[in-house]
Parts: sequence; C-alpha cells; structure tokens
Amino acid sequence: MTDPATRRAVLLATATGAAALAVGCGSDGGGGGGDTSTTSGQELARTTDIPVGGGKIFTDEKVVVTQPTKGDFKAFSAICTHQGCTVGTVADGTIDCPCHGSRFRIQNGAVANGPATRPLPPKQITVDGESIRLA
Ligand code: FES
Repeated sequence: MTDPATRRAVLLATATGAAALAVGCGSDGGGGGGDTSTTSGQELARTTDIPVGGGKIFTDEKVVVTQPTKGDFKAFSAICTHQGCTVGTVADGTIDCPCHGSRFRIQNGAVANGPATRPLPPKQITVDGESIRLA
C-alpha cells in the first residue's frame, strides 16, 4: 500500500522537473516514523501552493491538502473510499475521483457525490509559518 519508491520512480519517469523533486526531498526511506520532535516533519507544500477554495493532491504521499477558507488548511487521504483509486482533481469545492465519479467536500472530506459512501479519512498536518508538513 505504501510504496513511495515506486511512486517516485513513476514521477521521475514522467516529470522533467525530476531534479527538483530529488533535491527537495532529503529523506531516503524511514517513512514510518512518527517522531516529530527535533527534525521537522516532511514538508508537503508551501501554504501558497494551496489555492483558497481548492486544494492540491500529493500522489506520492497519498494526501490531499485543501484550504476551504483563507488560512484554514485541511488534509485527507487521497485514496477514494469507493474502490481505492487515487483522487485526481480538486475543483469547484470538491475532491474528485476519476474512476467512477465520486466527489468529496474540501471542508471535511464528506461525500458530495457517489458511488462512494464513506468520507475521505482526515490526515494530520501542521502548518508552521508557510510550511505544511505531515504531523
Ligand atoms: S474508486 Fe473512486 S469513484 Fe470508484
């Protein structure tokens, strides 16, 4: 289920900005650690990367971060609760799954449109200045 190396390989194969990705991510493995004491958590994004009233999907981390209202950031699993596809877009106030059309509200992950019947589970993030990190 969690295989960031594979996802990263796909990204590297498709993105011309691969060097930027490699430079931006300083950790190799150790994804299971929940220790947030001294080393800062993994930065997902800058607050300015997340549009107000929208969001951004991080496929490598399987997380979607939204900003329903200015300065209010939320995070949810990016795995659709219908059949497990990764959600594909954030538009018009919903997080949309490309597989069968389920849509989830950016405010709370609740189902706005089926066939999914369960909300996207929330994820813990911290906002430190302009950095959004996995908690
Ligand atoms: S897996 Fe998302 S709508 Fe079916």
